Amino acid sequence: MNNQNPLTAKEAIDSIESAVHTESTLRRAHATGVAFDATFQPTGAAIPWSTAAHLQQTEVSAVVRFSHSSTSSKPNERLNPVKGMAVRFQLADGTFTNLTMVNVPIFISKTPEAFIRLIQAFDSSSTWSQRIDALIHDTEHKAFASILKELKPFRNFESLHYYSIHAYFLKNDDLERQAVRFEWQPLPQNDLDTASNSMENELIQRVQQGHPVRFRLLMQLAEQGDVTSDPTIAWPNDRKKIKAGILTLNSLRSDNAESLVFDPTVTIEGIECSDDPVLLFRSAAYEESAKRRGVNKDD
Ligand code: HEM
Repeated sequence: MNNQNPLTAKEAIDSIESAVHTESTLRRAHATGVAFDATFQPTGAAIPWSTAAHLQQTEVSAVVRFSHSSTSSKPNERLNPVKGMAVRFQLADGTFTNLTMVNVPIFISKTPEAFIRLIQAFDSSSTWSQRIDALIHDTEHKAFASILKELKPFRNFESLHYYSIHAYFLKNDDLERQAVRFEWQPLPQNDLDTASNSMENELIQRVQQGHPVRFRLLMQLAEQGDVTSDPTIAWPNDRKKIKAGILTLNSLRSDNAESLVFDPTVTIEGIECSDDPVLLFRSAAYEESAKRRGVNKDD
């Protein structure tokens, strides 16, 4: 990587592989998790902003994968506080669109290049003073302290809020564009009567025992001047949030969604990616990771 040439996906995944242990058949980030078939019932509240099929009034099916951010096949749940929730909305015409989110509202780095610099700084041969130096002195990592504040103690996957971090543009029938950020808000749950030995097993038990596990999709509407290209900056808290629909987990997937790629740039008519360079880079990075774990991205 140098300043003349933009970072390639191959360089990014090579950097991850040389900095941390990865498994040949697993994702090069968020390696382990658990996946469910689900349904999404839109409320229709998003119709004034978007023509997207899953944001109208008809229920659509979905696949949901919860994950630990670690690249390890045996991640320590508590030492990996960043958790993922990836959702593929499957539409009646055979197309799909993804939201691939985590439990913090902002990203640590402003650009893919800065993120990979950070990963390189954290490889096993670096000292703690080199790591802290990278975090403090790289001007594109100013979000670190805010992210630490956002990481609250957590019990399980199903009580976390998950955020798209990136902005997307919604487009309506009049071709008007509105920038939004998405959030999954967990709905209250019953207490479970059995103890489980992992976050995955707790969620599986909950679903299999018929306890509802549901999330509300919120869309935060940007206002004039809110930046759409910088994932390290949150929009002000007073921005209006629309209740776009409810996602319900139905059953465990036997394939654990291992062959799916939740590329966050896959959109449909009525939604467009923003100009956030991290969002746009993720597509090629996920494709490269999929290739290395033996999965064809378009399957
Ligand atoms: C330049 C920045 C990033 C890079 C290089 C990167 C890289 C990766 C890679 C290689 C994978 C595995 C893909 C696969 O094999 O299918 C992955 C998965 C994932 N990433 Fe990222 N990522 C980045 C930014 C983000 C951001 C900003 C978020 C949250 C908004 C995020 C959330 C996730 C989640 C939830 C998964 C698991 C998806 C699944 O369940 O399949 N990543 N990432």
